[in-house]
Amino acid sequence: MSVQGKNVFITGSTRGIGQAIAKNFAKNGANVAVNGRKEISTAFLSELTDFGVKAVGIVGDIADFTQAEAMILEAEEKLGPLDILVNNAGITNDKLMLRMSEEDFEKVLKVNLTGTFNMTQNVLKKMLKRRSGAIINISSVVGLIGNVGQANYAASKAGVIGFTKSVAREVAPRNITVNAIAPGFIQTEMTDSLAGAAKEVMLQQIPLKRFGEVDDVAKVAMFLAEANYLTGQVINVDGGLVMNG
Ligand code: NAI
Repeated sequence: MSVQGKNVFITGSTRGIGQAIAKNFAKNGANVAVNGRKEISTAFLSELTDFGVKAVGIVGDIADFTQAEAMILEAEEKLGPLDILVNNAGITNDKLMLRMSEEDFEKVLKVNLTGTFNMTQNVLKKMLKRRSGAIINISSVVGLIGNVGQANYAASKAGVIGFTKSVAREVAPRNITVNAIAPGFIQTEMTDSLAGAAKEVMLQQIPLKRFGEVDDVAKVAMFLAEANYLTGQVINVDGGLVMNG
């Protein structure tokens, strides 16, 4: 399906990858619901409406089921039925395993994995009735290969992959696709905090010898929204870092 005139909800889209995804959908004629935990800037919303589409800011925390339900309702009231959901919002809280508290572990799971469940279940109720829709979950290559200091994050992102494949099987008979993107190292505020030496080591492991940009992920999200004979897949956007057999 073309995204022209479709309604898209992108979680965590006030900056980084989510913001690029929102802009790319708007540029291609989709109406967008952008989300963050705090007020959404009017400058960003008007940047989106300049593409001639509708754009609404929906404030709320995906980790809270009641807020997730209210956010989907609010977006549907303002835009109409949602055709596409991009579960992008995510957090890290890196610590070596022995220093990681139960709270450090659970907090990351709660946003990255439970948040994906919360938003997906609430959007699916309506998509199932309409027998159409696309859900795109942002995982990470860390969910495939692990990473030192990221047991919580890797577990959440591996969980997103299992979740994607299970839900894809459940809803395929109703013409709804569910796919995941596993980005590698993408330059955003989330990765800005990494030390220079750690970045250099990572760069050496990337066959394309460069870090990814937010638009690299946004383009694949668009492709997955339009590819209606593709479901239950994980697309690595990582410069060749992980090559699956
Ligand atoms: P970011 O930290 O720049 O942006 C994350 C966005 O999610 C922010 O707008 C933040 O406000 C929002 N957010 C966080 N918790 C939320 C909550 N509970 N409810 C609603 N919104 C919430 O991160 P970035 O780099 O743009 O990452 C986006 C996604 O891509 C995340 O899921 C991340 O795990 C994933 N990813 C990023 C990679 C990278 O290299 N930057 C690599 C692999 C995956």
